[in-house]
Amino acid sequence: MKWVYIEDIGGFSGQSVEVRGWVYNKRSSGKVRFLLVRDGTGLLQTTVFSADKDHPLFQKFDQLTQESSVIVRGAVREEKRAPGGHEMSLEDLEIIQVAQDYPITPKEHSTPFLMSHRHLWLRSQKQHAILQVRVEVVKAIRNFFDGRGFRLMDTPILTPSACEGTTTLFETKYFDQKAYLSQSGQLYNEATAMAFGKVYCFGPTFRAEKSKTRKHLIEFWMVEPEVAFATLEDVTELGEDLVLFILEQVLTKRRADLEILERDTAPLERIRKPFIRLTYEKAVEVLKARGSTIKPGDDFGAPEEALLSEAYDVPVCVTHFPAAIKAFYMQPAPGRPDLVLGVDFLASEGYGEIIGGGQRIHDPVLLEQRLAEFNLPREAYAWYLDLRKYGSVPHAGFGMGVERMVAWLCKAPHIRETIPFPRLLYRIYP
Ligand code: 4AD
Ligand code: MG
Repeated sequence: MKWVYIEDIGGFSGQSVEVRGWVYNKRSSGKVRFLLVRDGTGLLQTTVFSADKDHPLFQKFDQLTQESSVIVRGAVREEKRAPGGHEMSLEDLEIIQVAQDYPITPKEHSTPFLMSHRHLWLRSQKQHAILQVRVEVVKAIRNFFDGRGFRLMDTPILTPSACEGTTTLFETKYFDQKAYLSQSGQLYNEATAMAFGKVYCFGPTFRAEKSKTRKHLIEFWMVEPEVAFATLEDVTELGEDLVLFILEQVLTKRRADLEILERDTAPLERIRKPFIRLTYEKAVEVLKARGSTIKPGDDFGAPEEALLSEAYDVPVCVTHFPAAIKAFYMQPAPGRPDLVLGVDFLASEGYGEIIGGGQRIHDPVLLEQRLAEFNLPREAYAWYLDLRKYGSVPHAGFGMGVERMVAWLCKAPHIRETIPFPRLLYRIYP
């Protein structure tokens, strides 16, 4: 008998097939037994109907517990009321293992308990749905950049110097030297962009963030495009197109998962180009008008980001930040050396920053000056300075955090649910 996955079962209506999976739930009512099986791609209702209460399939059915592993065989037919729209009449039930006391029961569990059982929690319907959305987001990102001729460049994870400030660096030994886990592939991508024109890197990044919030992971995945000859405005448009492409892919391909999550998709469906554009100074005015106590020059914290992103029903692109609150590599604004050509995208519905980027300094003298101001060791950045010596051009790029994007799309209460095994401030198990 042919082994098929539940997501493909619609193509086998009227045929007998085999499905391999785990017991999600079971119930009986009179002469009928319902066994709900999940195989990772979906849920399938299987049924046995018999007037004989000692039917051999009933006896096997009775042994089964939640998460027992099984192979079910039987005829597939359409059944509108069943999950997924199809049902299987059981002809054969093979038990692989009877699970003993599966710890995650349908009752409510505390978050620490669920987090300690993350290796099992992944099987629960909502967690599964969030990670399916993540799969789609990752696929959409690759398709977007590959489709636009960007070259994928894998940047190193072990690095000798900082990209995003020295306070969140993870230090490790590199034989007899010091190394740091990458905070961002950007600096390396500035080199690959000069070699390939338009590039992106996509990998894990690490920040020893001492903040315990709903938005911070210690290890997260970031996609970072970098484009030679591009300006702040060019990459802001690129970011808009990327966000819209991901939205469209997830809304069309993962609707069923969004339904499981009870995500109201209307606010996502309304999003169109252009997104709101605000300079930092204008954003501060908007914040004050909405009751914030922010002072000019302050960085936005979570409350300011939330307040701003709730003010509009499309994402907000904030630009022209004070240089003092941004990274060393940011290009000053023309005529306003105190401001930089950076951009942060704030997602709607209070989700806050999903993208950070901007235009980079291309002038070698200015870059040297900035490194000194930030107390960064010149030797470690000698190669980076080289890029400004040999055919330096204006260039720009950004980074988008995959988990932040997934959290917003799913309206997840906490970023920890958007990655299979989150690394958090006080948790590295499992
Ligand atoms: O704004 P960030 O720090 O920018 C950079 O790292 C640039 N070097 C990127 C570039 O221009 N190539 O981070 C970019 C994005 C944020 O907007 C956010 O989505 C995500 O990375 N991010 C985090 N996601 C989860 N947990 C954290 N601790 C994150 N820190 C940043
Ligand atoms: Mg940022």
